[in-house]
Amino acid sequence: MSARLIDGKAIAAEVRATVKAQVAERTAAGHRPPGLAVVLVGENPASQVYVRNKRKACDEVGFVSVSHDLPASTTQDELLALVDALNCDDSIDGILVQLPLPDHINEETVIERISPMKDVDGFHPYNVGRLTLRMPLLRPCTPYGCMTLLAHTGVDLVGKDAVIIGQSNIVGRPMALELLAARCTITICHSKTRNLEEKIRNADIVVAAVGVPRFVKGEWIKPGAIVIDVGINRLDDGKLCGDVDFDSAVEKASWITPVPGGVGPMTIATLLQNTLAAQQLRD
Ligand code: GUN
Repeated sequence: MSARLIDGKAIAAEVRATVKAQVAERTAAGHRPPGLAVVLVGENPASQVYVRNKRKACDEVGFVSVSHDLPASTTQDELLALVDALNCDDSIDGILVQLPLPDHINEETVIERISPMKDVDGFHPYNVGRLTLRMPLLRPCTPYGCMTLLAHTGVDLVGKDAVIIGQSNIVGRPMALELLAARCTITICHSKTRNLEEKIRNADIVVAAVGVPRFVKGEWIKPGAIVIDVGINRLDDGKLCGDVDFDSAVEKASWITPVPGGVGPMTIATLLQNTLAAQQLRD
């Protein structure tokens, strides 16, 4: 058996085109374009690339993106003052503070300071709580994007056994909440999990978000399972690979996301969806 590919690049392009059309329609009807503030503190090279891509994506769909590039020496109070100002700014619908922040700044404090209605990352405890209670408002972008990918398979998720590998606040935990809300039976695995391989062998859906290249072996995949690979790892030869050993997993799965071109493009596409949704929340 060879799995069908879930084409994240194409699905993300569809999402972006839909957002762009909705923005055009809304601006034609007299609304201002959605405004996203993207805040970067310091000079983490990976963050600089992510932020550049987010700003570019905003421009492409007709959003106004407002950049705040702050030095690594910015104090927590200075950052909180900026968040306060953005919370009060009526031209700003979404606030994104790129993580990680420098060590002297407490990420939880900053996330909690963002107005939940402008929290387009969906990281605020209010939004995580809403997702937990099956009444989502703004949903974390990467897991929400994974749900869009799963929806494109057309497979009914109800009652499926889903194993999520990774328990981060950004991916693993909200992914589990998304799948639970979709009525899957969920297992979250992490570094202390016993019999990981056995759990994966029984999974109808595997979501890998560990950050270890090719960690999940094809022989662990149940025949016909759906495999969502959130990992993006750069190998010594410069090539990208996921957290799943794609070449062996593709022989076992029914559907699989490639890396690159799977989950990766969905995060920014979903951020655009969230920013438009945030504007609509404030209408
Ligand atoms: N760092 C890594 N992923 C993300 C993300 O989705 N949002 C923010 N704000 N920071 C990140």
